[in-house]
This record gives sequence, structure tokens and C-alpha cells, in this order.
Amino acid sequence: MATPSEHDHDNGNFKDMFSLREISSQFFEMVPVRKMKWKDEEATLLARSHELQRQLLLATVKHPVCSNFPPSVSYMRYFMKLLIHKLESEDADIADEMYETYTDLLSRSEDEDETLCYKSYKMPSGECISLQESVHLVSQGTTGLSTWQAAQHLAEWILENPHIFANRSVTELGSGLGLTGIVSCKYCQIQSYAFTDCHAQVLYLLSKNIEQNLVQEKHKQNSDSSDRDKKILRKIRKQLSLSSGSEDPSTAFGDGKDVVESDVNDDEIYSDPVELDVSTSCWDMDSSHRIASLKADRRVSICHLDWECVKGKVLEKLKSDIILAADVVYDTSIIPALVFVLKSLLDTGPESNRKPKAYIASTIRSEDTRDAFLIAIGSEGLNYSIVESPSQSRFHYDRSVPIEILQVSAH
Ligand SMILES: C[S@@+](CC[C@H](N)C(=O)[O-])C[C@H]1O[C@@H](n2cnc3c(N)ncnc32)[C@H](O)[C@@H]1O
Repeated sequence: MATPSEHDHDNGNFKDMFSLREISSQFFEMVPVRKMKWKDEEATLLARSHELQRQLLLATVKHPVCSNFPPSVSYMRYFMKLLIHKLESEDADIADEMYETYTDLLSRSEDEDETLCYKSYKMPSGECISLQESVHLVSQGTTGLSTWQAAQHLAEWILENPHIFANRSVTELGSGLGLTGIVSCKYCQIQSYAFTDCHAQVLYLLSKNIEQNLVQEKHKQNSDSSDRDKKILRKIRKQLSLSSGSEDPSTAFGDGKDVVESDVNDDEIYSDPVELDVSTSCWDMDSSHRIASLKADRRVSICHLDWECVKGKVLEKLKSDIILAADVVYDTSIIPALVFVLKSLLDTGPESNRKPKAYIASTIRSEDTRDAFLIAIGSEGLNYSIVESPSQSRFHYDRSVPIEILQVSAH
């Protein structure tokens, strides 16, 4: 086998063939390491070049995004471990930097930090949307602390159809950590965007993710580092470390009995679970304490909305041209409440010339759940059609389970 130095001068060619960008984006989305897509010839090229190995480190664990918005330490360790194994199986001459990086990661402490991590989604422009997420798919009694496949699918579709959103007001149901909405606000000329959810911790992390990605650096008032924020994040981490989540999406959804409850009550952090708890340096709260608008971008608001106990006044404020939702159809017991909210937001009365439309992206885990949703919208007099899927796969989510976007309207 040729020595690394013999091939290093050829790196221009290697760069073209070796999809560093692809591996880097899979790494930042925290795609399970064993499921990462590598081309066989890439591993062979990597094995032959110290320079390429160094470039791979710079595109992943040593990338600046990794210092500001790190994936979990255990994920980075596992990535390095598998990378080294891969190279060893190619009988490679492995650069010292590879082993040093791995040993550094092994010596890092994990403790509570392993409950929350950042996942960063690379946009077509090359910039990243970095979201703080739980390392578990289900934690703290909610599925809302991770970004789900349907949100990524809907975000891909939005990126291909920005004209649908131009100058339109949008309300999102069950926003979770905000990927769909942040993409819409950044890449479509929306008139306004209301993020909604019902879970206190989800809303808190959502507010932080919005601040992180939609507020320009110069307008940030050290929002991440206020003592109060630090205290809340510490408590969320503590609560997350007490509740263990399921890593298997097939067990995470079903009949509503899937959630794992923690011993620690939300009331320990939040004075009133229906009130929004967001940083007042970034958000203006309305008098109901359920809706807050982002000071740096008045188009953006965040709202506590529980489909099971809606207030007419709040729904009135959320009426918009477009309703979005990703992965909210997974529990048959919640469908009637969800469809009631959908119907209220889509109904305009005979006088109005508004014709709102909803776009609901769902992972079809169960045909029964899908049918129950379609029957419920039909019996409320709503119409639906299936929207064409996005043509490009920008994100690296599991595509083995089908995802469908329905357009729903009252007309
Ligand atoms: C599977 S997660 C999807 C989150 C996000 N849309 C995504 O796809 O990543 C379902 C979301 O619906 C929210 N949700 C569940 N029941 C709700 C209810 N009764 N009212 C409002 N939101 C609810 C959860 O808090 C969670 O954020």
C-alpha cells in the first residue's frame, strides 16, 4: 500500500471524490453512526491519506459548529471509534490526530450534559440550524424534545415551495423544537409565524432554539447565559437524566401509554404549566401569559396551546392563512381534539374570503391511526388531498417508514 505522504499531494482529486459535506451533515444531525452512509471507495481513499483524515476531523469533531453546538459526547466518541475501526479494517496508516482526538473525547466528562445536545441541520445555503434537543426520543412525558422525521420532511417540502408561504400568516401546531418553523421564517417571506405547543419544557427549549437561530448576534442580549436560563436548563437536564427515554421510534408511539414519566414535577420549574416561561429580555408576553412575541422579529410568536383545553380567544388570535403540523397524528386518543382545533382554525364563516389551508406531515407508522385521522377530518366536513413529496433529500432521516403531507381545507 502507498504511504500517506505519497498521496497527500493528490488531495485536490480526493476532495472531489470524497463527500466530506455528506458525512459532516450526517454527523451534525447525529445520524446513528452504524447507519451513516459511506461509499466504499471513500473509506479506501481515507485510508490512504493523512490529509484527508485531517479534513474529515475538521469537518466533524473539530469543526467550529462542534464547539458551539456540540452533539452528545457519547455520539462523538462512537463516531471516532467506528471511524478508527473502519480505517483499521482497511489496513490504513492512521494519523496520530485521529487517536489523539478519540482519547480527548474519552477523557471528557459526560454527566448531566448527556441529556441535552445539539443537532445541526445543514441548509442549502451551507449555514446550519442548530437545535438543542434531548438525546432521548421520548423524555419528560413528551415526544416534543426531539426533532422527528416528519418535521424534516415538511422542512424539505417548504424549502422547495417557498412561494406558498410568501406574505402569508402561519400557525404551527405541536411545533416541538422548531425545525419546520425556523426553516419557514428563515427561507420564506412569511408575514407572521406562530409556534405553538402544550408542553412546558418543549416551549422553553423551543424559545431558546428560536432565539438562537432567528435573532441576529447583534440583537442577542446574552440570552443564553442569564442566571435564570442557566437554572432552568440545569433543572431540565436533571429531570431528563431522571427519566430514561426510548431510542426506538416504533415503541415511542402508539396508544398514548408510551411516555415515560419523571419523578420530578414540572411545577418545580414552572409556576403555572399553562403559562409560557420565556426570557423577557427576548420576548414580550401578552396579558394572558400564553402568547409571547419575539422582540427582535415581531413576525414571530410562541404560544401555549393545548388542543385538549383550548381557549376561544387564543384560537381567534391564531387564525392564519396557513396551518402547519408535523408528526402530530400518532395517538388516536388525541385525534378528536386535534381535529377540533384544525377545524376551528380552518373555518372562516360565509362572509370571509380567506381560504386557509393546513399542511399536515405524518409518518405512517400505523394505517389505523392514519384512517382514524382521515375519518375524523371527513366527519368535520374538511377536505384533503395528498401533496407531492419533496423531490430532494436534504436531511438524513430514516426514510424506511413512509411520510405523507396532507393538504386540508374547509372549502
Ligand atoms: C412527535 S412530536 C412532533 C414535534 C415536531 N412537530 C416534530 O415533528 O419534530 C408531537 C408534538 O405535539 C405536541 N403535542 C402533543 N399533544 C398535544 C396537545 N394536546 N396539544 C398541543 N400539542 C401537543 C407535543 O408536545 C410534541 O411537541
